[in-house]
Amino acid sequence: MRQSLVMGNWKLNGSRAEGLALANAIATGLRPGNKGIVVCVPYVYLSDVQDAIKDTPLALGSQNVADQESGAYTGEISAAMLKECGCAYALVGHSERRSYYGDTNESVAARFVQAQKEGITPVLCIGETLEERESDTTFAVIDEQLGAVIDLAGVEAIEFSVIAYEPVWAIGTGKVASDQQAQEVHKYIREKIAAKSQAVADKVQILYGGSVKPSNAKAIFAMPDIDGGLIGGASLDAESFLTIYQST
Ligand code: 13P
Repeated sequence: MRQSLVMGNWKLNGSRAEGLALANAIATGLRPGNKGIVVCVPYVYLSDVQDAIKDTPLALGSQNVADQESGAYTGEISAAMLKECGCAYALVGHSERRSYYGDTNESVAARFVQAQKEGITPVLCIGETLEERESDTTFAVIDEQLGAVIDLAGVEAIEFSVIAYEPVWAIGTGKVASDQQAQEVHKYIREKIAAKSQAVADKVQILYGGSVKPSNAKAIFAMPDIDGGLIGGASLDAESFLTIYQST
C-alpha cells in the first residue's frame, strides 16, 4: 500500500505574513502522526516557513531547483541551498516552468538529479497540453517527459521520486480531468515504469494535479493509480487544503 501524499504549490502568491499565516493554519489543523502533507512555497519564504512548521507533520518543498550544483549561474538556487532551508521535496518540470521559462526535458532531468544528490525528493511534473490531447499525442508526450529522466537518472532513481501528472489544460482552468481520464494516464505512467522495473512501479507515488478542489478530491483519489494530489489554487486556503488532504 502506497502512502498517500498531498502537496500544495503556492506559485507566485502571497506575502511573507500571508504565507506564515497559511502555513500555521495548515499545521494547526494536523494531528501528530499525520503524514504525507507538503507545502511548496516561494524560495524567499522557505526559511520562515521552515521555522514556523518545525515539530509539526507539515513538510516543506520548493517550486524548482537549479540544474547545476554551484557556480556562475545568477539567480539560481541549488539543491544544497534548498536542503539548508529544510526542503524535503522540490518540484521539477512544472508546466509553467516548461512553457514560460524554457525548462526542457533535458534541464528537468538535470534538476531531478541535482535534487536527489542532496537527498531531496524530486517531484517530476509531466502532462500534455490541450492541443496534444486533441491530436492524440498524450502518451507520446508522457513518454518523452518521463523518458528523459529515466535515460539520465535510471529507472531505480524513480523509486526515490514522486511523479505528478498535471494535464496543462486542467491547471487553473477549473476544467478537471475526469477520474477516468486521469486514471488512464496514471495507469499508463505506472505501466511504462513497470516495463523497466515492477518493484519501482509498485512503490512510486503518482499524484494528480489540475483544478483539484474539496468537492472533487475524494473521487479522484479513489482511483487505483492515483496516490494523492498536487494542488495549486485550493492550497492557498487552509481549510480547503486540509479538506483535500483528509480526502485521501
Ligand atoms: P490548480 O490546482 O490551481 O489547477 O493548479 C495545479 C498546479 O499547477 C499545481 O502544481
